[in-house]
Amino acid sequence: MSILRDTQKEIAAAAEALKAGRLVAFPTETVYGLGANAGNPAAVRKIFELKGRPTSHPVIVHLHDTGHLDRWALDMPADAKKLAAAFWPGPLTLVVKRAPAVSDAVTGGQDTVAIRVPSHPIARQLLAAFGGGIAAPSANRFGHVSPTRAEHVHDEFGDEVELVLDGGDCKIGLESTIVACIGETPRLLRPGSITLSQLRKVVPGVLTGPDPSAPRAPGTVPRHYSPDTPVSLVPSRRLVEVMSEFTDRQDKVAVLALRPPSTANRFMTWVNAGTRAEHYARGLYTNLRTLDRAGAKAILVEEVPAGEQWDAIRDRLKRAASPLKPPGHDDDTVSMRVDLSDEGDLP
Ligand code: TXA
Ligand code: MG
Repeated sequence: MSILRDTQKEIAAAAEALKAGRLVAFPTETVYGLGANAGNPAAVRKIFELKGRPTSHPVIVHLHDTGHLDRWALDMPADAKKLAAAFWPGPLTLVVKRAPAVSDAVTGGQDTVAIRVPSHPIARQLLAAFGGGIAAPSANRFGHVSPTRAEHVHDEFGDEVELVLDGGDCKIGLESTIVACIGETPRLLRPGSITLSQLRKVVPGVLTGPDPSAPRAPGTVPRHYSPDTPVSLVPSRRLVEVMSEFTDRQDKVAVLALRPPSTANRFMTWVNAGTRAEHYARGLYTNLRTLDRAGAKAILVEEVPAGEQWDAIRDRLKRAASPLKPPGHDDDTVSMRVDLSDEGDLP
């Protein structure tokens, strides 16, 4: 695998690779994407093979701008246009009716397509050099933590991905906000750094929560990848107590907290992610990867505060929650796996 810095030459090489039907991993402001020519179904299918992702899970088409939107979208409802005008380029994905030429490999056979115009300069240069749509999910194996650094992509795929453009750490660190604009009223499908109130400033009626009229989507059953370390969400007031249950038994435990530790011992690895949501989000996936390597019996995640700016973080943590409980944990400790937010759990 070559990890490339962003010189013009390297971006040109990456664009050529896409044109030749190969895969290229690239940075966006949210997370790294694993890209293929969205107009080439065989290339898109390689993404699914490499990720081990079920083919029914659609991928996002990334565009440089809205110039050739009609190649992908059948129509853009007025609300979609307003949201696009307000937030593109940026961390917003819009789901709209698909144009006839969009392949089933991209849409998972649905009649809708997800579109995003990213703001990251390297993503933009790549899109400009390539000239078409780039289909890209997060560049992680199915069910794994999303990558927010080039080296994370390498950790996921090793030499199986030939090219990774290196843009350093992703600024936002959580996947884009997804809004469906297919019914009467737009609906928030996945929270991200663009919050519901920011969306509602542009389109006041934006809905949230599952669509009661929609058939239950396939793939909403939890499919938790077996990680190395099980993760539990723990209320703040119980964090130290639950942690001590491990360390008292001389079991290693890893902690992702909102504060510094009050004690230290050799059985505990503690990351203080702080109380600022933006900062917490930016470091979340890197922190989880670090804690996952601590050789701990469990990763304890201190529950995050209430408040809209924590919605996306809470969503990623909750999505990962598994009904399984490790022995010795009480009811208000939700057990889960290191399986944040991957694909297909949307209503
Ligand atoms: O920030 C992001 O969105 C990153 C970067 C690389 O752009 N991409 C990303 O892709 O998170 P992925 O595939 O990991 O997650 C995309 C989500 C999936 O849950 C997928 O099911 C949903 O978008 N999605 C894609 N097309 C859809 C459609 N037509 N209708 C409903 N959901 C769709
Ligand atoms: Mg993903």
